[in-house]
Amino acid sequence: MKFDKAYFDAGINRYNSGCVKWDDKNACPDGALPMWIADMDFACAPAIANAVKKRAQHPCFGYSAHDGAVEKAFCDFWKRRHGLEIQPEQTVTLPGVVTGIRMALQIFTNPGDEIVIMTPVYGPFFFSVKDAERKLVECPLLEDENGHITMNYAAMETAFINGAKVVILCNPHNPVGRAWKKDELEALLKLCKQYGVKIIADEIHADFVYAPNHFVPMLTLDGAQDCVISLVAPSKTFNVAGLQHAHAVCFDKGILEKLNHLLHMYGVSSGNIFALAASKAAYEDCDEWLDGLIAYLDEGHKLLRKCLQEKIPKAKMANIEATYLAWIDLRAYGFNTEELNERCRQAGVIFNKGTFFGEMGNGFVRINFGCPHVHVEEAVKRLAKALGEEEKK
Ligand SMILES: Cc1ncc(COP(=O)(O)O)c(C=O)c1O
Repeated sequence: MKFDKAYFDAGINRYNSGCVKWDDKNACPDGALPMWIADMDFACAPAIANAVKKRAQHPCFGYSAHDGAVEKAFCDFWKRRHGLEIQPEQTVTLPGVVTGIRMALQIFTNPGDEIVIMTPVYGPFFFSVKDAERKLVECPLLEDENGHITMNYAAMETAFINGAKVVILCNPHNPVGRAWKKDELEALLKLCKQYGVKIIADEIHADFVYAPNHFVPMLTLDGAQDCVISLVAPSKTFNVAGLQHAHAVCFDKGILEKLNHLLHMYGVSSGNIFALAASKAAYEDCDEWLDGLIAYLDEGHKLLRKCLQEKIPKAKMANIEATYLAWIDLRAYGFNTEELNERCRQAGVIFNKGTFFGEMGNGFVRINFGCPHVHVEEAVKRLAKALGEEEKK
């Protein structure tokens, strides 16, 4: 099978599959086009579907044995695709990356401690810190006159001097689409080490980086070994988020022990047998599918930019180096988040509200372009209608 443009153009009808993106009628009323939550409107790779079907043929779904095969496949994948050497014993199996963020906060900090996040950023970074009764310190990303976004080292240094204990890094960054470069990550690591700050690196979007950019795993940096927990998953990469499987990777034995202890405390053991079958197939047999997907998404964000330029000239779209999520500044249209949201719903298109990523997201939307290109075109048409651009033409 060829995983080319025609393959991904075909998309898949997801209605009545129990998926939140299309089937949650509160979030996405009938007839609306959902371009919100980060999963994609493509079938997973055939090798994954076949592995799950094969496992389902044995009608006994008891506790799973961990024979290390999935971890080996996972480690081989990371070596092959990202040049990072991981040993299976340096990984911990989790139900999700957000679970890992919450556990890492427990391990590294105490209630009341200050935690740095780089806003705008994925909503659960905020919720995880607040739920753990830690204090959020927002260090807003900086943007230059060319729209290039960078980390705010000065704000972070001030936070560290004031006692912040942890940074939650999004690498690559959701929603602004930056694939942080080696020197940027090194500068962050240097600063963190200077002040004894730990890094929780959410690297779930690692596999979606568009040439000439490339993904730099935090754990490849010298000195990261004793202060970084990296959290990764097959969920975004292979579009299998409903299977709930992720990994924490850490090179420090003491931290690994604490992670395993926490899992034990909360009774999280074995692993979902379908997830294990799917992940093994994903990491072993789906490189070709993934390469085809990345090529398709690379075209998708270029198409999105072109459509926006044509139909919504006052929209500003952040440069896309990574992820299948586009951060769109619609402030020139003068609507706040609630007004934008309502107008989009009326026009039949659903995006993530900008404020899901922090208060500075007021007047922004996040568009998921992990879908057939025709949906990208249709979504921009509907957004133009929502903004009143259509009537002008
Ligand atoms: C940056 C980031 N981290 C974590 C997640 C969710 O991960 P999980 O479902 O494994 O908790 C997402 C989902 O969109 C994400 O964008």
